[in-house]
Amino acid sequence: MLSFEGKTVLITGAAGGIGAETARILSGLGADLALCDLEGCDDLADELRDAGTSVVTAAFDIRDRAQAEAFIGAQPRLDAIVANAGFCPWDDWNDGDWDDTFDRVVDINLKGVINVMRPAIARMIAQKHGKAVLVASVAGRMGGLRASPHYVSAKGGVISMTKWMAAKAAPHGVNVNAVAPGATATVMVDSSNIDASSIPIGRMAKPEEIAKPIVFLCSGAASYMCGATMDVNGGVYMV
Ligand SMILES: NC(=O)c1ccc[n+]([C@@H]2O[C@H](COP(=O)([O-])OP(=O)(O)OC[C@H]3O[C@@H](n4cnc5c(N)ncnc54)[C@H](O)[C@@H]3O)[C@@H](O)[C@H]2O)c1
Repeated sequence: MLSFEGKTVLITGAAGGIGAETARILSGLGADLALCDLEGCDDLADELRDAGTSVVTAAFDIRDRAQAEAFIGAQPRLDAIVANAGFCPWDDWNDGDWDDTFDRVVDINLKGVINVMRPAIARMIAQKHGKAVLVASVAGRMGGLRASPHYVSAKGGVISMTKWMAAKAAPHGVNVNAVAPGATATVMVDSSNIDASSIPIGRMAKPEEIAKPIVFLCSGAASYMCGATMDVNGGVYMV
């Protein structure tokens, strides 16, 4: 049920904290991996190849639709995709250049996700199986701990889009779901000034604590999950 032997999983933002941990867990479960990130992820790929995993990599910006489609189309198999790449500036909407930042945040976190999901979902629908996991955020659920409105809006959009894609794909044997992490100890939160004592569990998540639910949603164990957003936030937001 949790084996990924013979399966290929594609991860965006794979060089980052949550993406890399997801890749490591999937590697341990036998998956072949297709990893991409803005500047590539060669160090991670070398590490996983040393562990015996088949890995292909690419360096591109997910805002580039043509490159996203080319990378997805180049994979001989695609059993699951994790749309994980994201960008979160901790700014103020009164900043002078904020309108430009808004466009960049929405382009990466929302349209960039569409750029990878559009070809992936089409392919999975055609092959009549697949799992897609979108990495949203608690910010899209409850407004965030410290996040700015561009990121909150984009991640709220990811949660809505998950439902839209899930309804479209489910009749064809494809499961689309999201994980909404709370504050997680990666470089993304380095300058966030998040007060971990305000989190009921009392600390930020470790990246692997977000990666495990992502891997579950990529697996055969999630066969009846459809359009769900799994909250993994240490109790900051409880539905
Ligand atoms: N860390 C947190 O507290 C937290 C909380 C909620 C949600 N998230 C989400 O989790 C996901 C992973 O974040 P993380 O915490 O691992 O952060 P991270 O900064 O460690 O990783 C994000 C990765 O995305 C890549 N990326 C950014 N823009 C890109 C682009 N335009 N094209 C291709 N790749 C790009 C970066 O290079 C980086 O490797 C993101 O979607 C983030 O929004 C993180």
